[in-house]
Amino acid sequence: MHLFGRMLIERIENRILVGTIAFVGIMVLVGWVAINENARMASFTRQYSARSIERGAELFAANCSTCHGTDGRGAQLRAPALNSPHLFGFDYLAQWDDEIDTLNREVETLEAEKLTLQDELAGEGVTERRREAIETRIAEIDAEIANPERQARIEELQSEREQQISAMSAAIDLGYDPDVPSRLDQLGWGGTRESFIQTTLIHGRRPVSAIGPRRWCHGANAAAGHCATTRSTTS
Ligand code: HEC
Repeated sequence: MHLFGRMLIERIENRILVGTIAFVGIMVLVGWVAINENARMASFTRQYSARSIERGAELFAANCSTCHGTDGRGAQLRAPALNSPHLFGFDYLAQWDDEIDTLNREVETLEAEKLTLQDELAGEGVTERRREAIETRIAEIDAEIANPERQARIEELQSEREQQISAMSAAIDLGYDPDVPSRLDQLGWGGTRESFIQTTLIHGRRPVSAIGPRRWCHGANAAAGHCATTRSTTS
């Protein structure tokens, strides 16, 4: 080893120089790879997801679309929709419900403050000055609670909400429940959507009302011959 080194690079100074340059070079290379690692992984992950989506689409077309429709919108008397806001828990009323809740909570907060102040008034040792201050504040709170603008806004929101519900009547007839917008919640399902789909395929599930009774087509349902055999709507 000693001899070998001597043969390649004669002078000790040169050897130190070559060693240092090699070390710095390796560090720069490692740094470069490390910096680019995230981008490289992201690109792999993207490709991986894209492939698995493609593969899933193929599987869906081959195994599920005959019943659930090529676009996943289901077919009446055959199978429920999978590409549905219900299965993905989309809440069409959230916008109205959130604002109504906020307004109602404002009132509750004011009422709570009023109660605390009334308790203080009823207690002992309240100075005259403090009593006046509390009474002024309670009068303010009463005025704020009675504020007709808030009440009008709540009523407006409620009627918009009603309109939205009647606009959704077709979806509601097909099993979408505006008060329980998630199919998983509707069934009291505590697990993930993935596990819901998987267990449906293994055990079957009671159909949503729209597809009619006794069209049980997965797992045990299929095995027991409860599947729909005729297509009543084109998908
Ligand atoms: C033979 C027709 C048929 C085929 C093929 C079929 N399904 Fe279904 N699917 C149904 C019926 C009917 C229901 C309702 C009752 C049941 O699960 O048995 C249903 C229910 C479901 C549900 C539950 C929906 C809900 O809201 O309760 C999921 C998820 C589902 N299927 C996924 C799939 C997937 C994924 C495939 C392909 C791998 C598939 N199905 C293939 C007929 C079918």
